[in-house]
Amino acid sequence: MAQEDVFKKVVAHCKEYGFVFPSSDIYDGLGAVYDYGQNGVELKNNIKQYWWQSMVLLHDNIVGIDSAIFMHPTIWKASGHVDAFNDPLIDNRDSKKRYRADVLIEDQIAKYDEKIEKEVAKARKRFGDSFDEEKYRATSPRVAEEVAKREALHERYKAAMQGPDLEELRQIILDEGIVCPISGTRNWTEVRQFNLMFSTEMGSTADGSMKIYLRPETAQGIFVNYLNVQKTGRMKLPFGIAQIGKAFRNEIVARQFIFRMREFEQMEMQFFCKPGTEMDWFRNWKAQRMKWHQALGFGAENYRFHDHDKLAHYANAATDVEFLMPFGFKEVEGIHSRTNFDLSQHEKFSGKSIKYFDPETNESYVPYVVETSIGVDRMFLSVMCGSYCEEQLENGESRVVLKLPGALAPVKLAVLPLVKKDGLPEKAREIVNDLKFHFNTIYEEKDSIGKRYRRQDAIGTPYCVTVDHDTLNDNCVTLRNRDTMEQERVAISELRGIIEDRVSITSLLKKLI
Ligand code: GAP
Repeated sequence: MAQEDVFKKVVAHCKEYGFVFPSSDIYDGLGAVYDYGQNGVELKNNIKQYWWQSMVLLHDNIVGIDSAIFMHPTIWKASGHVDAFNDPLIDNRDSKKRYRADVLIEDQIAKYDEKIEKEVAKARKRFGDSFDEEKYRATSPRVAEEVAKREALHERYKAAMQGPDLEELRQIILDEGIVCPISGTRNWTEVRQFNLMFSTEMGSTADGSMKIYLRPETAQGIFVNYLNVQKTGRMKLPFGIAQIGKAFRNEIVARQFIFRMREFEQMEMQFFCKPGTEMDWFRNWKAQRMKWHQALGFGAENYRFHDHDKLAHYANAATDVEFLMPFGFKEVEGIHSRTNFDLSQHEKFSGKSIKYFDPETNESYVPYVVETSIGVDRMFLSVMCGSYCEEQLENGESRVVLKLPGALAPVKLAVLPLVKKDGLPEKAREIVNDLKFHFNTIYEEKDSIGKRYRRQDAIGTPYCVTVDHDTLNDNCVTLRNRDTMEQERVAISELRGIIEDRVSITSLLKKLI
């Protein structure tokens, strides 16, 4: 199946099975804003729990906070967001559609990549088993031509983004002959900078209201509380502060479903360390975060690091953790060594000292910071894409199954009475009432057993048990495994022990140490 079709199916599946709905659906939606349904919220909460516990439970030098979305407006001046949190935008005069100039150029680079891959695929088909891909890539003149065009464009684009040089970005778009996908024309306006922060007013206008911003990242709430936490928690460097919360960005090009949203959630951890130790901590956090991702079992080949060529003015190292989505390798998490930029800026703008007194060296200094920042929604999308499977069964039927890691699955166990009579529903409810204290267990009696299995497969429930007439005598049930579809007869008294370990967040956390 084409990867584009896979993505469409994942999006449709999210809506059909209560994972994600467009916001304000009955009013035809609101651009790039989404709601999570009954299964989505459970999956999202499990992702958050996995992250939170891996940070706060497993590290005795990391604590959490929950700061407000509204913050003093000077914070955004100090952090640089008022002046520099911009995207370069360009309009097509014929379609009146607005685009991000950098995204148009990146799409053009991706088109060269596609052409190269198509050439290689054609040759593979032509030469069959004797195909030497490495040699073909190195010697084919057609591949060489496309690679040269791609590299030239990439270099020019990188240079233009340094400034950024807005006129040069427009010139690249014209020189590459990039057309508007709607009007098909090259009738482009100038490139302008567009600030991504949403603003609103606080207080009544009579008193003189204040323009405030909806936070575009949760990190600043951590920076401005760093000394409060350090002092009240008697924390010694190095230590971390973790936070999960909403962030808002007025994205110009909001697309690919929940990949780029205007309201989204971040899980951020700022790790404060002694100046000069930050590169060691950067490497350490890169390794820890990759382990966290790979513990989910989607296969190491689906992840990679993308080190940044172009660093933000405050960073001395940065990398992205990318996951192979149906639309290519995409950033899920950013790991940045942010130096002492943010804390120094807040010290300057607030006029208050936020230096750390180091009892070991008797010195005071502004700590350096290594940040790990992951989008909950993007993580959710990667989990859905990694789990979605369509399987052809031996009996000729097919099934859609979400092979979610057990610990993230919204429902862990479905208890199904074979028929709605003869005391089977009562027995099934008894099992639910016992197990629901330990993990999310549901009762289902509607439709045939086969249909009920399919519904549970589609929402990723790792286990189902069927209560039949024998159960009333032997106190055993048939336990069905979602992935293998194998069934085994087990005693009701053993269910908790068998299932709990495989579906608990603890089972994932244990893979991290
Ligand atoms: N504090 C650093 C920071 O915010 P970022 O790379 O802009 O860095 C971090 O964002 C993560 O937040 C991204 O890797 C992504 O997972 C998520 N994210 C950013 N913008 C997003 C958006 N518009 N929609 C969904 N997730 C987003």
